[in-house]
Amino acid sequence: MLQKILPLLFLSFLSLALRATSSNPNPSLTAYDELNRTGFPIGLLPSGILSYSLNLTTGDFAVDLADHCRVTLPPDNYLAVYSKRITGQLVDRKISGLDGIRVRAFFRWWSITTIRSTGDDLVFDVGVASAKYPAKNFYETLDCQGSNGKKASS
Ligand SMILES: *[C@@H]1O[C@H](CO)[C@@H](O)[C@H](O)[C@H]1NC(C)=O
Ligand SMILES: *[C@@H]1O[C@H](CO)[C@@H](O)[C@H](O)[C@H]1NC(C)=O
Repeated sequence: MLQKILPLLFLSFLSLALRATSSNPNPSLTAYDELNRTGFPIGLLPSGILSYSLNLTTGDFAVDLADHCRVTLPPDNYLAVYSKRITGQLVDRKISGLDGIRVRAFFRWWSITTIRSTGDDLVFDVGVASAKYPAKNFYETLDCQGSNGKKASS
């Protein structure tokens, strides 16, 4: 079960884009730039980002999308939904208190609450479950599906 949930968790990486934390944060960078700069694949964030902010003191961040965003994650076709605003706290390669990213699996919605980076892998917490996936699976940015996105009810 955890293995099936894990792919969905990858979406949560989007929030990682926010992790402009450590050494050399630059407000002029885009969220995608921040992902790359901090060693994360840009595919963790969907297209359609309007803006993002990061409080370098507290690690609190917010990402605003043009609209809520549905993405189907390959290869298992899990549906993930990003809220219009995604918030959380990014400290030391860990995103906690995450709000705004949910994945559909096993007939219910799961909120991704925490994402940790261990280097080549990303660990996602969904409720009491957690899963690990290689970051290389997210080299491409996914486009948001339209309101008539496929499999929205699966
Ligand atoms: C960051 O971007 C450069 C240039 O496109 C690319 O070569 C590198 O692989 C990227 N790093 C990550 C972690 O995706
Ligand atoms: C960061 O958060 C602290 C604590 O809430 C606040 O005092 C500070 O003004 C914030 N910094 C920015 C740039 O918003």
